[in-house]
Parts: sequence; C-alpha cells; structure tokens
Amino acid sequence: MLAGAGFQVTCAARRADRIGALADEIGGTAVTCDVTDAASVAGLADAVGGTLNLLVNNAGGAFGATPVAEADVDDWRRMYDVNVLGLVRVTRALLPALIASGDGMILNVGSTAGRIAYEGGGGYTAAKHGTQVVSETLRLELWDQPVRVCEIAPGMVKTDEFALVRFDGDQQKADAIYAGVAAPLTAEDVADAITWMATRPAHVNVDELVIRPRAQAAQHKVFREPSAP
Ligand SMILES: NC(=O)c1ccc[n+]([C@@H]2O[C@H](COP(=O)([O-])OP(=O)(O)OC[C@H]3O[C@@H](n4cnc5c(N)ncnc54)[C@H](OP(=O)(O)O)[C@@H]3O)[C@@H](O)[C@H]2O)c1
Repeated sequence: MLAGAGFQVTCAARRADRIGALADEIGGTAVTCDVTDAASVAGLADAVGGTLNLLVNNAGGAFGATPVAEADVDDWRRMYDVNVLGLVRVTRALLPALIASGDGMILNVGSTAGRIAYEGGGGYTAAKHGTQVVSETLRLELWDQPVRVCEIAPGMVKTDEFALVRFDGDQQKADAIYAGVAAPLTAEDVADAITWMATRPAHVNVDELVIRPRAQAAQHKVFREPSAP
C-alpha cells in the first residue's frame, strides 16, 4: 500500500525469500535484517542511505501466554528485545536519515496490549507498553526536528503468523484466538491505516491510532458467533 501511495519501499525482515518476493511485487528493495542484532541494523542503515522519509517499526511479536507466576524469563527477554530494543536500535540507526530528509516520520506498530493488561499476557503487554512509552518519549525529544512520531495500536488482527509464533507453532491454540470471530482485522486493514497516517500533510502528527475489529469492543469483550450445530 505504501508503494501504491508513491513510496520507494525498503522491506526489512529476517527471511530473505519473503521480503524478496514482496520487494519484487512492489518494485522495492529487500534488505535482510534482524532488529535484535546491532550489526544487522547497521547494514540496514547503510542500505537505506542518507535520506529517509518514513520508518515503520513493525517487527515484533508475542512469545508464550503463561501467567506471571510461571513466566519464562527468556521469552520475556526476547519480547522486550524485539518489541522495544529492536525499535530503538533501528530508530537510532535511521534517525540521521529521517532528519536529513526534512520531512521524516517514525511510525511504530504498538498494540492495544500496550494500553491494558490481560491474564497470561504479562510479557507481551509489558513490552508493548514499552513501545508506547518510547514513542511518546521520542515525540517529546524530537519536538524541534522535522520528524513526526506516530503509533498505531491494533487490537485483534488475523495475520500470517502472530498467533502461531506466540504458541510456538501450535495451530490449534493459534486458531482458538480467532474462533468464532467473523471478521478480525487483517494485515490489509492495518496497512491501510498506516498508509493514511503516513500520507497526512507534513504538519499533521497522528500521535496514536487505536484500531480494532467491530467484534472487539474491548480487550476482553469479543463477540464470537455461536458455533454451527
Ligand atoms: N496480530 C495481532 O493481533 C497484532 C495486534 C497488535 C499489534 N501487533 C503487532 O504488529 C506487528 C506485526 O505483527 P504480525 O501480526 O504481522 O505478526 P507476524 O505475522 O508474526 O509478522 C511479524 C513480522 O515481523 C518480522 N520480524 C519478527 N522478528 C523480527 C526481527 N527480529 N527482525 C526483523 N524482523 C522481524 C517477521 O519477519 P521475519 O520472521 O522474516 O523476520 C514478520 O514480517 C508486531 O509488532 C505485533 O506485535 C499484532
């Protein structure tokens, strides 16, 4: 969608085949990058070059859903590393190019998990609250720079792998998250909202945008269709 809106897009993630296919489709550039690895992020900055208008910090995810009393500290560390420190590494590396553009935007993908707590979500909600706070801090610190700082906080989105990654490949547990929800948000819905945020006039900063499916009135209040007989 960003390519469709006229952006020259650099796609960055760990799996080269997927970003390569996406870059081919949109006439963009693929750069293999692990946001938890400083050298890898430095390579991304080299590939991007001297100016950049938009950075979408999307890499993130949840690992596990155990109560705090049974927390796997390694999972919690991994969640903080990708959702918070990954965002910080990439932002630090690309900020000079964003400033140099004269009209930059940092758009962080947070979550409604960064707004509220839910049982079994402690590690992820702690990390996504971190995403929210870092976004707010950056906006304050960059107040005199030509760089907007925005955050999108989606609720339930049925994406390729989010739930599968969370439950370590357990398809049944992953499917249960969306069970009976007729229309969860899709990746396209979130991309559409991101594209809208990124195409506002340069003086308009959408600080934060919370987006949920109609069926999710609140984190715990999700309408699920009764299962067919
Ligand atoms: N799905 C939801 O319900 C939901 C709701 C609110 C917010 N979010 C947030 O939305 C973002 C996207 O999630 P999703 O639902 O699209 O999950 P997903 O299907 O698991 O996609 C995650 C994406 O991040 C990349 N990624 C993961 N770790 C990375 C790393 N260390 N370095 C570079 N790239 C990495 C993955 O590519 P590689 O594996 O190839 O690196 C993949 O492209 C995340 O920040 C997530 O927390 C999701």
